[in-house]
Amino acid sequence: MKFAIITILFSLFLLDFGFAQQGDLDISRFGGKPNTNIGQAFLSAWTQACASPTTVKIVIPAGTYQMGAVDVKGPCKAPIEVQVDGTIQAPANPTDLKAAHQWFVVQYVNSFTLSGKGVFDGQGATAWKQNDCTTNKDCKMLCMNFGFNFLNNSIVRDITSKDSKNFHVNVLGCNNFTFDGFKVSAPKDSPNTDGIHIGRSTDVKILNTNIATGDDCVSLGDGCKNITVQNVNCGPGHGISVGSLGKYDAEEPVAGLLVKNCTLNGTDNGVRIKTWPNTPGAITITDMHFEDLTMNNVMNPIIIDQEYCPWNQCSKQNPSKIKISKVSFKNIKGTSGTKEGVVLVCSSGVPCEAVEMADIDLTFNGSAATAKCANVKPTITGKAPTCAA
Ligand SMILES: *[C@@H]1O[C@H](CO)[C@@H](O)[C@H](O)[C@H]1NC(C)=O
Ligand SMILES: *[C@@H]1O[C@H](CO)[C@@H](O)[C@H](O)[C@H]1NC(C)=O
Ligand SMILES: *[C@@H]1O[C@H](CO)[C@@H](O)[C@H](O)[C@H]1NC(C)=O
Ligand SMILES: *[C@@H]1O[C@H](CO)[C@@H](O)[C@H](O)[C@H]1NC(C)=O
Ligand SMILES: *[C@@H]1O[C@H](CO)[C@@H](O)[C@H](O)[C@H]1NC(C)=O
Ligand SMILES: *[C@@H]1O[C@H](CO)[C@@H](O)[C@H](O)[C@H]1NC(C)=O
Repeated sequence: MKFAIITILFSLFLLDFGFAQQGDLDISRFGGKPNTNIGQAFLSAWTQACASPTTVKIVIPAGTYQMGAVDVKGPCKAPIEVQVDGTIQAPANPTDLKAAHQWFVVQYVNSFTLSGKGVFDGQGATAWKQNDCTTNKDCKMLCMNFGFNFLNNSIVRDITSKDSKNFHVNVLGCNNFTFDGFKVSAPKDSPNTDGIHIGRSTDVKILNTNIATGDDCVSLGDGCKNITVQNVNCGPGHGISVGSLGKYDAEEPVAGLLVKNCTLNGTDNGVRIKTWPNTPGAITITDMHFEDLTMNNVMNPIIIDQEYCPWNQCSKQNPSKIKISKVSFKNIKGTSGTKEGVVLVCSSGVPCEAVEMADIDLTFNGSAATAKCANVKPTITGKAPTCAA
């Protein structure tokens, strides 16, 4: 009898604190119902899940929901998962996001998982029309869909990021972070909608991911180490890019990138490393490897540009101080949208070193694409275009 009462009390305790169904915490238990704003419900669920000594999964089931800017932080007592199977819509009007730089922010967590077949819809169409950053240097910063900051051992699995107002995903200060089966979707002409931007992070993997957007599919900022981009489809978009780097003087070196088995379809660039000339930045970029890539009508399939200077924002008077070394391009095939399929323009101040081209088979309008090279002497194996000045 006494035992039964204790059991009942203990069960009530478990129910009360939501540990009863080990793991699952449905957002509806916090008042998060379809067609309502679930911001507050999500924060309550997070607070409870993060305080749990065992793994808890917050579930947002199928349905359409609205949500304002949300910023949740660890550390949490145990691994934590958010499973989204519904569609969550951001406010279409940028001013309704207040001053938030990112719509859904997760920070300082060890073992965070975001999973599910759900969609985070940034509803960017109205904001894109207000984007004047190509002409106005003091343009207003629009809100990105995701900010993943200072996370360790974390995963984003499945999940779609749609129509972000700005970059879709910003990864900052993370260690061992994997995107697997992720999707990014925005129109070709949506401005600044980079897919995944990574900065100051180590061991980040982007796997089995389809990215269709209006800017770079994947871009690496300073301080990236050991990044893998594998089985990724990019297009429309501006390709897979390292940089731009060198604009600022407090940048950290970039070391270790493998881009493997990716398809670029109708993109502006394929794989690209870009640095600014005439700027204070003097970091190194090393160990960049690009292999087994298919280019499908890509304007500039292979490009190193150390004179990157869009809209004449700088002068090319002094060369880039960034040293690029140990770069390989291997088994890259397909069609180029321009005759110069390969452009390797390195710095005259610090020429590129240990650049390798192997089995490059790119055609333009039916005949072999050409290569333009400056301040670099690539080692060539197998078929590859001969460098012209
Ligand atoms: C992530 O790992 C770094 C480096 O090991 C550590 O300094 C940091 O405290 C960890 N962060 C969390 C949230 O566990
Ligand atoms: C990286 O994170 C994943 C997911 O949490 C984990 O399974 C794996 O063991 C971690 N790898 C290392 C080297 O810590
Ligand atoms: C880079 O990551 C791979 C897994 O993607 C791992 O096997 C390797 O040890 C890492 N290398 C370094 C230098 O950290
Ligand atoms: C290459 O990537 C595609 C997806 O884009 C995948 O279907 C295929 O299995 C991958 N090939 C290898 C050898 O991993
Ligand atoms: C490439 O892009 C074109 C135009 O957007 C599209 O019709 C085609 O299906 C894409 N091909 C692949 C393999 O994704
Ligand atoms: C493409 O090739 C065809 C036939 O060789 C030629 O008539 C045409 O001018 C070429 N187009 C371009 C843009 O070079």
